[in-house]
Amino acid sequence: MSVIVITGGSRGIGASAAECCAGRGMGVILTYKSNPGAAESVVRRIEGAGGKAVALKLDVADVGSFGNFRETVLLTLKTTWGTTALGGLVNNAGYGLFNRLETVTEAQFDGLLSVHLKGPFFLTQALLPLLAEGASIVNLTSATTRVATAGVAPYAAFKGGLEVLTRYMAKEFGERRIRANSVSPGAIRTELGGGLNDEFEALLAGQTALGRVGEPDDVARVIAMLLSEDSTWINAQTIEVAGGYVV
Ligand SMILES: NC(=O)c1ccc[n+]([C@@H]2O[C@H](COP(=O)([O-])OP(=O)(O)OC[C@H]3O[C@@H](n4cnc5c(N)ncnc54)[C@H](OP(=O)(O)O)[C@@H]3O)[C@@H](O)[C@H]2O)c1
Repeated sequence: MSVIVITGGSRGIGASAAECCAGRGMGVILTYKSNPGAAESVVRRIEGAGGKAVALKLDVADVGSFGNFRETVLLTLKTTWGTTALGGLVNNAGYGLFNRLETVTEAQFDGLLSVHLKGPFFLTQALLPLLAEGASIVNLTSATTRVATAGVAPYAAFKGGLEVLTRYMAKEFGERRIRANSVSPGAIRTELGGGLNDEFEALLAGQTALGRVGEPDDVARVIAMLLSEDSTWINAQTIEVAGGYVV
């Protein structure tokens, strides 16, 4: 059985991806930062459906903790699945923040940088020794890298950096047959940035060819596909999952 790590798997897209991957036969290590109850609910839902999952605490902004996290992942792999190898890593954890360029503080900038670019960089580096030949890395970016959206400049800039980093991961890890791709969602109905109010949702739906905002499962199924045997020749790509947002 392939076992994968999904950061930020306690809610939203990460939780949906965890359930979707477990439903397709993968073992799932999902992480949470502040809400163990939500993470345990996801684990129970997966177990209730016949799958296997473990929730671990991780702050992706805390690079200094990644060595210990790798050891905890290794122990979990051995005790729960009887293996020492990971089949995939999904760098999904994140948060949103609306503030226009002229009022963004240095602390806001640094916080977004830590979670959306520095964290995925060093977490991938830390878990690399555990990734099996043929493993798949999926990095969650955003359609705001393509369509400028006032109020999210640092977030979008770091997601753009993560798309570039994804191509470098593919280049450097290719010799171990490890693939790396970005999944770039449009507006998805989650709690990110405080969630969508009716007015904002109507605006975004109107800018989307398919006429609605996305649901977490719309993205989760693409993440699961990129972790599966169906996508072994997809590499170094950014796949926008947005229903045709601003086309
Ligand atoms: N929703 C959208 O419209 C949208 C669009 C484009 C891209 N994305 C991207 O998709 C990813 C998932 O977003 P979402 O909408 O599912 O968000 P969400 O519903 O707000 O869930 C965020 C998840 O990330 C975790 N998290 C937040 N900060 C963390 C940190 N510092 N360290 C570790 N975990 C942390 C949360 O854990 P706790 O609950 O334990 O705090 C939670 O599990 C993010 O990278 C986001 O930027 C989302």
